[in-house]
Amino acid sequence: MPENWVDKLVWWKKTTIYQVYPRSYKDSSNNGIGDIPGIISKLDYLQDLGIETIWFSPFFASPQADHGYDISGYRSIAPEYGTMADCNRLIEEIHSRDMRIVLDMVLNHTSNQHPWFLESRSSRENQKRDWYIWCDGRKPGGKKPPNNWLSMVGGSGWHYDDLTEQWYWAQFLPFQPDLNYRNPKVKEEMFDTVRYWLDKGIDGFRLDIINTIYEGTDVGKNNPFALQFLPSEDNRRSFFQDHVHTINHPDNFVFVKELRKVMNEFSDPERFLVGEVGASLETLRRYYGEAEGNATNGLHLTFHLQSLNARLDAQAFRNLISRYEQHFPEPYIPTWVFSNHDQTRRISKLSNDQSKAKLNATLQLTARGVPFIYYGEEIGLVNSKFPLKGAQDPVAVRFSWLPQFFVNLLTRNGSVLLNRDECRTPMQWDSSSHAGFCPAEVEPWLPVGPQHETINVRAEEPNPDSLLNCYKALLRLRRDTPALHSGSMNLVEPSANKKELLVYERKYDHQSVEVWLNFSRKQIENRTPGNYDRVLFSTLRGSRPIHSSTITLQPYQGVVLEKQKTA
Ligand code: GLC
Repeated sequence: MPENWVDKLVWWKKTTIYQVYPRSYKDSSNNGIGDIPGIISKLDYLQDLGIETIWFSPFFASPQADHGYDISGYRSIAPEYGTMADCNRLIEEIHSRDMRIVLDMVLNHTSNQHPWFLESRSSRENQKRDWYIWCDGRKPGGKKPPNNWLSMVGGSGWHYDDLTEQWYWAQFLPFQPDLNYRNPKVKEEMFDTVRYWLDKGIDGFRLDIINTIYEGTDVGKNNPFALQFLPSEDNRRSFFQDHVHTINHPDNFVFVKELRKVMNEFSDPERFLVGEVGASLETLRRYYGEAEGNATNGLHLTFHLQSLNARLDAQAFRNLISRYEQHFPEPYIPTWVFSNHDQTRRISKLSNDQSKAKLNATLQLTARGVPFIYYGEEIGLVNSKFPLKGAQDPVAVRFSWLPQFFVNLLTRNGSVLLNRDECRTPMQWDSSSHAGFCPAEVEPWLPVGPQHETINVRAEEPNPDSLLNCYKALLRLRRDTPALHSGSMNLVEPSANKKELLVYERKYDHQSVEVWLNFSRKQIENRTPGNYDRVLFSTLRGSRPIHSSTITLQPYQGVVLEKQKTA
């Protein structure tokens, strides 16, 4: 092996990714809204935490109707977040700390305030008309949408525009019209935008709803009925419709390969794409493309959203891991996602219990796959509870007519989040009235979450048993242990009466580590072959899990053990 062989392993496969929601991270201009200079002031914190790559939700020019997921200028920065000079400094400051930067690219749609759309809607003859998807309505009169296609958030995805008496298509909310990728000029422009940011040194992109880039060309065809109301990760059905013509259209699989070629124009370092795709594992795999040597030829990664609502249960994770291993063997690699800006925070699905969160983190940072940590996850930031009425989140506003009992029913276990404000509250830096996010005299854009007096960085840093220090230890261990960041994964079958135990072995070269996770409220004892060198990590500091040939795990304890070298 060459001296620096660990450095040569593909960086984006072994990295750890932290998502920053810029609006909520750190306000430096004292207006209650997070911004880029605020983020820069926290880069030392992220470096010290042990994060290797940072993904930013969009901070491009935008009317902020969907807080940046409605872009009106792909090569400029929203003034509330800073300037292009701030952005350049952000890139530099991240790189100077040996970290990487990932931007959120919303290719599917723009804001309806984007100059392209303003032009496009101005007349049927405008040269930008076919940059978007316009269509006549149904006869007679054309006042009915062209077909029954529903948007992702329910309701028709077609919207009538009086001025030109046609309908435009929007996969998400009406103010987010879809770009028309069947027009080569659109594709060229967006690929050039990608190149523009790669030239600036961006290391990768998170691709917003990339599975909706194309729709069927025959608008005469309706989507079929399906007996399913809520969306799920296993199929493309929702709102009693199977979205065959609008989600995971076969042309998307070709598109991601074209985009991959653009990424491949840039090397040293290699850049990567991670796609937001809610779909079955079979479909996710199609987005990765086919294996060519030690890489695939589509997206480098997709989010595996299957874990979001996985029960904290050994059997559930055993199944998930074995399905991931079956569908994503090298050179494919899964991802581990438990929280993001659209979902109930994981800890709130675990009754806000820190010991369960530590167990969950141990799995996330030691199983094979690229982990994504959502800001605040490392300190145990919990979801807030806000009514739909008065929400800032446009999805919540859309559903604010729903009767409260129905909202309670839908959201009772956290697997459906109607008001995304609840998981976007300010980062909690200290115990001051606005948690150090903004000064006390300024109103933050969303109220600070509950228990910020104790759940905050400053309080947790000196406490060796805090969740924050658990994350730090895990992140360091993972970074320094090739078996954990790049090794193979083998599930170890539990003894018949130890079903609450999940054990797996990670191996790289001669290094072998075992991860033991107790998913139960009870202490578990198990015999071991007794060939462990060291306890590399434990969620319970000071515990001695191994005695001669017995391993004893406390409730919800997780440990990482180094096995004796095999050669
Ligand atoms: C994605 C984003 C979400 C956004 C939507 C529309 O799902 O994660 O926040 O509202 O796309 O861009």
